[in-house]
Amino acid sequence: MINLGIIGTNWITDQFVQAAHETGNYQLVAVYSRKLETAQTFGEKYGDVEYATDLETFFALEHLNTVYIASPNSLHFEQAKQGILAGKNIIVEKPAFSTPKEMAEIIELANQKNVFFFEAARNIHERAFKTVADFLPLKNQIIGADFSYMKYSSRYDKVLAGQEPNVFSPHFSGGALVDLGVYPIYAALAWFGLPNESIYYGQKIATDVDGIGTGILRYDHFDVTIRTGKIGDSFQQSEIYLTNGTLVMNAINSIDEAVFHDRNHQRREKLSVHQLENPMIEEAENFAQVILNPTDHKLGTEYEEWVELSRNVNQVIYDMRKSAGIVFDADEE
Ligand SMILES: NC(=O)c1ccc[n+]([C@@H]2O[C@H](COP(=O)([O-])OP(=O)(O)OC[C@H]3O[C@@H](n4cnc5c(N)ncnc54)[C@H](OP(=O)(O)O)[C@@H]3O)[C@@H](O)[C@H]2O)c1
Repeated sequence: MINLGIIGTNWITDQFVQAAHETGNYQLVAVYSRKLETAQTFGEKYGDVEYATDLETFFALEHLNTVYIASPNSLHFEQAKQGILAGKNIIVEKPAFSTPKEMAEIIELANQKNVFFFEAARNIHERAFKTVADFLPLKNQIIGADFSYMKYSSRYDKVLAGQEPNVFSPHFSGGALVDLGVYPIYAALAWFGLPNESIYYGQKIATDVDGIGTGILRYDHFDVTIRTGKIGDSFQQSEIYLTNGTLVMNAINSIDEAVFHDRNHQRREKLSVHQLENPMIEEAENFAQVILNPTDHKLGTEYEEWVELSRNVNQVIYDMRKSAGIVFDADEE
């Protein structure tokens, strides 16, 4: 059993704890919050849980072995570092870290301390995602792709009212690219590998981060277009163009419909994909298998691949952000 602690008490943490419990591999044992009352309100529904309002006390809890971090983006790095130094495995919400320097430091530290670091990029852990990956090599060459993830955030109302909510703040490493843009970028790098070049055109909002934008990832023989945003909604499907047809997916995460339109045979092939009610169960299960079987070679290799993917996604997002002139406080050395 994995003794789980959490940092950040918003709805996403509830969803993760429920998913973790549903796998049967985790038990929530500790909650950190800046306020005791908030910690108690969060933890009381999960049974016998310890509470902490300072991180030192929280990470010193001996029976705690894995911590899920879902705080504002810019806080992930210091919290993860503190957790690793205390010997805990860490599961960090996407986007894990603000810069390649932070990412490299955490990966190295986790290796040194012999603990695991996972970025909670849920789409790559969905079975549907692997079904698409397995389908792709069977077809001829890829000639392009168009991935979209854009959803209006109610917190944009606050920006319009003159405020700076964390998710739209350069102080907290916010904006559309690093938030929802991370999913299409993860998909492109997981399915096609590291691009040769990347560029992003983001439209800045009043808080000086991107509210909406378009990116291009250049590969040897094709380009991938990334469309993302948090100040509007997209109902566009995501597509992969192959020399003999087109794979059309309803989304780039939580894929529950994927159809290949075969041009040569004039037919449609429906891939067998479906989604679980809680979209975080598959990642929670994957992380648990690695944590619970630290000497398993196959799982170890898979873990290394996830870490390298996190590192590459972080670098590409950083390059794209720089190309669009989006600057975070975390960029300052
Ligand atoms: N995987 C997904 O589908 C998904 C969905 C949503 C969000 N996320 C990720 O989850 C993370 C949290 O996102 P969110 O929208 O929940 O963020 P948020 O509401 O801004 O903050 C999350 C938690 O962090 C703590 N916090 C807030 N402001 C803080 C501050 N100024 N200083 C210290 N702690 C602060 C609060 O917990 P306490 O009050 O208890 O301290 C809060 O509940 C982000 O990295 C985001 O990208 C992932």
